[in-house]
Amino acid sequence: MCGIVGYVGPKDCSEVLVSALSKLEYRGYDSAGIAVFSDNEIKTVKTKGKLKDLEDKLSIIGSPEGNVGIGHTRWATHGEPSDVNSHPHSGARVTIVHNGIIENYIELKEFLVSKGREFLSDTDTEVVAQLLDYSYNGNPLETIDNVMAELKGSFALGIMFRDFPDRIFAVRRESPLIVGVGEGECFIASDVPAILQYTRDYYLLDHDEIATLTREGVSFVDEHLEPLEKELKTADWDMESAEKGGYPHFMIKEINEQPNAIRTTIMPRIKNGLPCLDEYGITIDKIKDFNSVTIVACGTAMHAGMVGKYVIEDLARVPVNVDIASEFRYRNPIINKGDLVIIVSQSGETADSLAAMRLAKKKGATTLAIVNAKGSSIAREADMLIYTLAGPEIAVASTKAYITQLSVIYLFAFELALAKETISEAECKRLVSALMKMPEAVQYVIDHCEEDCKFVATKLVAAESLLYIGRGLDYALSMEGSLKLKEVSYIHSESYAAGELKHGTISLIDENMPVIAVATQTDIIPKTISNIVEVKSRGASIILVCTDACARGLKEGIADYVIEIPHTDELLMPITAVVPLQILAYYTAINRGNDPDKPRNLAKSVTVE
Ligand code: F6R
Repeated sequence: MCGIVGYVGPKDCSEVLVSALSKLEYRGYDSAGIAVFSDNEIKTVKTKGKLKDLEDKLSIIGSPEGNVGIGHTRWATHGEPSDVNSHPHSGARVTIVHNGIIENYIELKEFLVSKGREFLSDTDTEVVAQLLDYSYNGNPLETIDNVMAELKGSFALGIMFRDFPDRIFAVRRESPLIVGVGEGECFIASDVPAILQYTRDYYLLDHDEIATLTREGVSFVDEHLEPLEKELKTADWDMESAEKGGYPHFMIKEINEQPNAIRTTIMPRIKNGLPCLDEYGITIDKIKDFNSVTIVACGTAMHAGMVGKYVIEDLARVPVNVDIASEFRYRNPIINKGDLVIIVSQSGETADSLAAMRLAKKKGATTLAIVNAKGSSIAREADMLIYTLAGPEIAVASTKAYITQLSVIYLFAFELALAKETISEAECKRLVSALMKMPEAVQYVIDHCEEDCKFVATKLVAAESLLYIGRGLDYALSMEGSLKLKEVSYIHSESYAAGELKHGTISLIDENMPVIAVATQTDIIPKTISNIVEVKSRGASIILVCTDACARGLKEGIADYVIEIPHTDELLMPITAVVPLQILAYYTAINRGNDPDKPRNLAKSVTVE
């Protein structure tokens, strides 16, 4: 998604803006630009392509010299990626950058055209720039406030008025924006990593609040233009955690960070060998009466929910529905007062997940958010909140966020099962103790499976399509393995419940379709073996991810390649079994010459519908 930055201070603004934008590259983008007050005018330089293209352009035409400006990386929504559609966009006296979607931009554009305004681009953003210019009354705050009243949709805006060369303005509705403050300098940014090299102190801008940034500091007003006092926050993510730290890509760095991410996430939530979630408002008394659970999320986070379904149902005997947020929100779902709806999200800003949570609240449900990004919208609006403590996840393909989402879901499942008295305290302690061993188990898999995965990845380079199969938890996990592979390698893949193959999909199997079979659940291993044999006898080559215990039970020669992982408590196997699938996806992407950190067409934080 688009990235916004802005700067006011003593430094070379062009340099700060480009550097800050480089820390937002992970969000995904197709063009970039900056605008700087320079020689009494606003100078804009923008281009289709990557930041490198912008830097090349700046070095050819010269970077605008100045100390106040805004910058942007664009992920195209309205209008193709092109120089002219890139941000910043301007009216005569106003220049802006924008993240989000203006839903009523067509009506607004028609109105402005009827007033004689002409447009250069196809974007909704230019409409806002022109509307600000059209509405300008000499008072920027009043103008912004009046224009906001006209806008429908989601937006975060960085704004410069030609008449006010010492300041920038920022406003948001739905789309995230932060305001950073340093010594004699201020910043705006879509996300904390953009400013970490300059300051760790920042404010979270709330809906419909307007910030004015000058060298003297920042001031805030609400939608009635009343001054606001806001709480200054300090980022506990340091620069190092937002850098590659010697790894070639963020994706493999983050895969390697998983043991620590699990440890950091679970340890503070365990007391006397039992889950302790009281601090987050989750007590036995509070949750014992929930008779059903709905988990709503998108993509990888939804896949964590799928594992949650198997685990919660198995342990707590409570039915669990898992819903894709974009479906849930438009389906008039059956959610009643007193139901529990869990929203899982790394960014905490996913537009569909946020809307789904609001709908659930409106229907009277109690909401529990499992979120990674501190202070994000979902985190702030949920009734109960457990942070995954994965640290910043920069690679677009989620890895450490998924594993920490699983970890939190396990803790919650244990607590719910205790509350429902479906497991004893002793059994719960046994499960918690098994969970506490997972950081070491994941480390073991990283240390011992990487070479196998690297080798198997060489066999997948030419594949056009792949199937992932498994049963039970292995099926839930396969969904994530399949998504990981397709998003970074661009090889088509599907995950299938192994027993369902023969009802149609098996017709796709031939020698050109590799099958990745996940088999970690001993009780259903004979069934999975039958399904593997079915596809093998139709020519598929089999890559088997299984535990040492399962491997022993497998017949000789069933798989072409085996990636063996250690046996842990079977309920917890997804935590270790996902790791080879992530590594396999990573190396397959590398072998195909793709940048795994920035897969085409994808954005890290999907803040638009
Ligand atoms: C895939 C991936 C996406 C996200 C999805 C939800 O690797 O990262 O599928 O999981 O866009 O994002 P969050 O978790 O931020 O709500």
